[in-house]
Amino acid sequence: MNKNITETIKYIGVDDLDLDLFESQYIIPNGISYNSYLIIDEKVAVMDTVDARKYDEWHTNLLAALDGRTPDYLVVQHMEPDHAGGMAAIMEEFPAMKIVASARAVQMMPQFFEECDFEGRTIAVKEGDTLSLGAHNLQFAMAPMVHWPEVMVTYDATDKVIFSADAFGKFGALSHEEDWACEARRYYFNICGKYGVPVQSLMKKLAALDVAIICPLHGPILSENLEYYIGLYDTWSRYDVESEGIFIAYASIHGGTAAVAHKLAEILREKGVKRVSVADLSRDDMAEAVEDAFRVGTLVVAAASYDSDVFPPMRDFLHHLQMKSYQRRRVGIIENGSWAPTAGRIMRGMLEQMKDIEIVEPMVTIRSRMKRSDLPALESLAEALLA
Ligand code: FEO
Repeated sequence: MNKNITETIKYIGVDDLDLDLFESQYIIPNGISYNSYLIIDEKVAVMDTVDARKYDEWHTNLLAALDGRTPDYLVVQHMEPDHAGGMAAIMEEFPAMKIVASARAVQMMPQFFEECDFEGRTIAVKEGDTLSLGAHNLQFAMAPMVHWPEVMVTYDATDKVIFSADAFGKFGALSHEEDWACEARRYYFNICGKYGVPVQSLMKKLAALDVAIICPLHGPILSENLEYYIGLYDTWSRYDVESEGIFIAYASIHGGTAAVAHKLAEILREKGVKRVSVADLSRDDMAEAVEDAFRVGTLVVAAASYDSDVFPPMRDFLHHLQMKSYQRRRVGIIENGSWAPTAGRIMRGMLEQMKDIEIVEPMVTIRSRMKRSDLPALESLAEALLA
């Protein structure tokens, strides 16, 4: 794809529709885009490269957009290989081109590209530094931990464009039209979720700029209704609740715990909760379960006991939440055990290590299969979740 963002900024990124797992862990049923841009002015700047997997396609786009010009600068906002993968080859092709990046990124470059000689090729920039291309005057703002420490974003006041690195990115190739929020939320919480505080710092910097177009490193270029996207990013990075509702995540071995989880969902719906969602942690997408947990204010975890611990898919889920700084939520617990239930104690312990988690009592214990005698306890838990 090669299209104009503005008269002088061109999109030269590529879609990746045949990658099995993004970052070797996230399913991407609709692919992903590696965005890259070219600014044509008295000087020419390439804004990031792409994953080496798609280098050839990107290179074709670059040459077409250059239309015979030569790039003076390659601005590297993020060293992760899905964006910096094309650096070495393009440096070799254009030996006069300088690399503009944060000092931390410059430090990282030889770690990824032993074969490159960076001597005299790099310009390390810091907060507020500018680079004039002619009519365009690029201004750099550091965005450490959004989502690596070397990240910076770039503002072009001429066209009111912010090149936002991974911020405002989403899963899904540009060739695939879909709702923005769903895959942007799954991307955000799984990739940047731990870094709410640094994202908030970046949001404050963005608030001081006059931005008309957001050019992220993944997903669509945003040029309308920016308050909507910025508002969601603000909510997410504050760890605020985005939607009403209750999310029930279960890890069930033989279906007994699954039946309890679905029964609780039924009770909650009968009590008027409009949005109750249920996930099977053994089979559903873990990244989506993480996203769903952050989206609402109330979570219920239901799991079988296993090896004097908790059934591993639940341990994995809670570990994911812990890593992503899950916080400020209410959580109900349901455990199952046929002889010595241990799941509840383990889940409670893991939840108690997270920040500002309120355990909603009573914890419900099921023995093997839900029985009529278990219903009052489930009713009590449902009432407490609604309180
Ligand atoms: Fe899209 Fe953090 O790389």
